[in-house]
Amino acid sequence: MGEARADFLEKARTKRLTVAIIGLGYVGLPLAVEFARAGVQVRGIDVDPHRIQTINRGESYIPDVPSADLLPLVQAGRLSAGTAYEACAQADAMVICVPTPFTRMKAPDLSYIEAACRSLAPHVGRGALVVLQSTTYPGTTEELVRPILESPGRQAGRDFLLAFSPERIDPGNKQYGAHNTPKVVGGIDGPSCDAACALFALLVPPDQIHRVSGPRVAEMCKLLENIFRSVNIALVNELAKLCDRMQIDIWEVIDAAATKPFGFMPFYPGPGVGGHCIPVDPYYLSWKAREYDFYTKFIELAAEVNSSMPFFTVNRIAEALNRQGKPLQGARILVLGVAFKRDIDDPRNAPALEVMKTLLGRGAEVSYHDPHVPEVRLDAARGPGDPPGRRLVSVPLTEDTLAVQDCVCLAVAHSAFDIPWVLKHSPLLMDATGVTRRFPQDRGTVIRL
Ligand SMILES: NC(=O)c1ccc[n+]([C@@H]2O[C@H](COP(=O)([O-])OP(=O)(O)OC[C@H]3O[C@@H](n4cnc5c(N)ncnc54)[C@H](O)[C@@H]3O)[C@@H](O)[C@H]2O)c1
Repeated sequence: MGEARADFLEKARTKRLTVAIIGLGYVGLPLAVEFARAGVQVRGIDVDPHRIQTINRGESYIPDVPSADLLPLVQAGRLSAGTAYEACAQADAMVICVPTPFTRMKAPDLSYIEAACRSLAPHVGRGALVVLQSTTYPGTTEELVRPILESPGRQAGRDFLLAFSPERIDPGNKQYGAHNTPKVVGGIDGPSCDAACALFALLVPPDQIHRVSGPRVAEMCKLLENIFRSVNIALVNELAKLCDRMQIDIWEVIDAAATKPFGFMPFYPGPGVGGHCIPVDPYYLSWKAREYDFYTKFIELAAEVNSSMPFFTVNRIAEALNRQGKPLQGARILVLGVAFKRDIDDPRNAPALEVMKTLLGRGAEVSYHDPHVPEVRLDAARGPGDPPGRRLVSVPLTEDTLAVQDCVCLAVAHSAFDIPWVLKHSPLLMDATGVTRRFPQDRGTVIRL
């Protein structure tokens, strides 16, 4: 294996590697583009033929990847995509970026990793490197990925190299991307770690690569990063509820605390946490912890507080309407912003969807506007009181649309929103983002979380 590792390192140094990226979504496509830009040959693999055709036309479906960046790489033959795993037989390195959602009962759903590894296993060449990048619980690389890849009679460490390196992409973040975010790398052995570090050194400077002792540390590192956010957001969400009761403005409190130059980092309340990391990943760890008879109380408590926020938001709307003598039943409510965060197009697990679902369940007439999300599908009913699943399309945002609402709920403050204009034309605005505190308001028609 020493020879194979030396060969891999030499190929990486001279950029003669072929890299396969498996799963071309929010993580995989930007990564494929970064590797191709770094000068190596990239083959993307995805089960979605529509995505494959789109990429091969040089068109991007991921907002953080402009087609203008993708097209020249496709035209130069540096990046191509397909559904067939056979192409991996020519790859020196394979990076797995498939989804890791949870099941309805909030247990890890590793079926995508399993399926990708089963398809990949027959095509891992001798001396090739496999890196798992999907977020998951500690132990996945060695307990799940390794046995599947070894099944055709190959042995990890002897016949191929294996490592875990967490993905840290932050969709919509203009400052940090794959090229300037430090990488954490944990290999199953020294040669695997060396090879994975050499691979990622194509993207970031070598001093931005942090080696850890093994995949379990790297897997846990990613979960710590996300749990850190989840717990701190939950803390301010709980304080927001208390401040509401004590009639203290939580936003003013946080802005004041944030003037401390050390020992404090501001987190902000909101209508809940969304996306496929912060509301999902902590559950991976609490599930795994049970195998060790360990109960992750912080994680559970944070999830409980954060998942109560859509209901708190709806209750605040109901109270505000009540003060105007209006019931929530039959009230017209427009939700502004349904992506899971500002300036992105991804509504997965977005708290705004839970807000809409709860409002519908309580009899309100709900519509939404989001310039980045043309339509959404609300979950099917979970209980007898819930409405059935339904599809909603974004309505145009005009003065007339705002004027006919009983309440407008600003759930995500996309930069495309003209907040003073929204303030001016909304009869009642529930601001779940805190953004309105930056604008003068002379009417008592704004409530904030
Ligand atoms: N999106 C983020 O901001 C982010 C950040 C950090 C980590 N992650 C993690 O990265 C992983 C991928 O997330 P994502 O947001 O890119 O998911 P995604 O849903 O955007 O993309 C996943 C892609 O994998 C493809 N796929 C599914 N099964 C496959 C298979 N068997 N073979 C090949 N392709 C397959 C899908 O068609 C899809 O194109 C997850 O574990 C996620 O938790 C995501």
